[in-house]
Amino acid sequence: MAVLDQLSSQKAIDLENKYGAHNYHPLPVVLNRGEGVYVWDVEGKKYYDFLSAYSAVNQGHCHPKIVGAMVNQAQTLTLTSRAFYNDVLGKYEKFACEFFGFDKLLPMNTGAEAVETALKLCRKWAYEVKGIDENEAEIVVCKNNFHGRTTTIISFSNDPVARKNFGPYTKGFIKIDYDNLDALETELKSNPNIAGFLVEPIQGEAGVYVPGEGYLTKAKALCKKYNVLFIADEVQTGIARTGKLLAVDHENVKPDVLILGKALSGGAYPVSAVLANDNIMNVIKPGNHGSTFGGNPVAAAVAIAALEVVRDENLAENAETLGQLFRSELNKYIETTDLVKLVRGKGLLNAIVINDEEESDKAWNICLALRDNGLLAKPTHGNIIRFAPPLIMNEEQLLDCVSIIVKTLKQFED
Ligand SMILES: Cc1ncc(COP(=O)(O)O)c(C=O)c1O
Repeated sequence: MAVLDQLSSQKAIDLENKYGAHNYHPLPVVLNRGEGVYVWDVEGKKYYDFLSAYSAVNQGHCHPKIVGAMVNQAQTLTLTSRAFYNDVLGKYEKFACEFFGFDKLLPMNTGAEAVETALKLCRKWAYEVKGIDENEAEIVVCKNNFHGRTTTIISFSNDPVARKNFGPYTKGFIKIDYDNLDALETELKSNPNIAGFLVEPIQGEAGVYVPGEGYLTKAKALCKKYNVLFIADEVQTGIARTGKLLAVDHENVKPDVLILGKALSGGAYPVSAVLANDNIMNVIKPGNHGSTFGGNPVAAAVAIAALEVVRDENLAENAETLGQLFRSELNKYIETTDLVKLVRGKGLLNAIVINDEEESDKAWNICLALRDNGLLAKPTHGNIIRFAPPLIMNEEQLLDCVSIIVKTLKQFED
């Protein structure tokens, strides 16, 4: 048998279990094709994708424009490293800076790397511009955050699964409650060594927690007052997912530092970035930071195409309209049942909370049943299921999905 011969689902799962590290617990479904809002398993069953690779595939699976740009660039020049210039990176940097309204972009590959980049940038700015004494800078973060899983990032996580036995942890972070302006001001007021406030505009992994209206505006104003950088991690919420280009746009907030990943490539390739204006980004000098693959020509070409798709196909507007419809349709069902407590979210980043304990396996079992009924979603906790389809979905497909979800939930009513 050749290495790439078609496998049954069970055989593919067995191989991963035997030869792959067990750092994930995937839903048992083995996919081998994707197009638009659909994916297919190796036995040919078709599903709606209601996770979009954690909001990376906002533009839909295998978008022809993105794949076309990738293939074209891959056949021309794939990697030079940053030891030399390439003729695509500058075009991408200009395009993305104008798209998001910043002076400069620092290209990386994964979301966690971009978060690390933003933290380094913030610290260096604190020492060289704000004037904090060396090694004294601190960064305020929120409880229940998810910013990735590198050593520094898990140092300020409060998820025991991500943290335990990975110490010693990186110092210099202060955790406060999310959506609590008093807690933020207390820290900023009492501690002159604070360099930045790192925040998710909606806490995605925590279970799609949407902060109260005005939180981001007021948090940004506090940061300005105390000369602290407002760093928005829009790796999951950004690029049209929540019904605006960025989730901070709902409150017209301009972050000092913007972190992007995932949908920056439409899921075709690992592309992430940090954007900031010159007064901040210019502290970075040759050798301070980098990555062999960051800013490679394929990534740059893919990212331009991915952003053009977002703009040309009005994905933010579509996410806003379909998101409203999704929540209102689900609310009609929720009024009739005790099984689901609520639906919450913005645009097409939503979650339902099942009326059960956080540690229960109800959400997992519902996701298995959703799979059987032709829709793929994943719990973020024992009682929370995130719903995040590709943003190219149309109304008819969305209503079809709502009926699959409601039909499935009804199977779990007592
Ligand atoms: C808000 C946020 N930041 C950072 C990350 C990390 O991104 P990556 O998995 O590409 O490292 C994620 C991933 O889910 C995320 O949701």
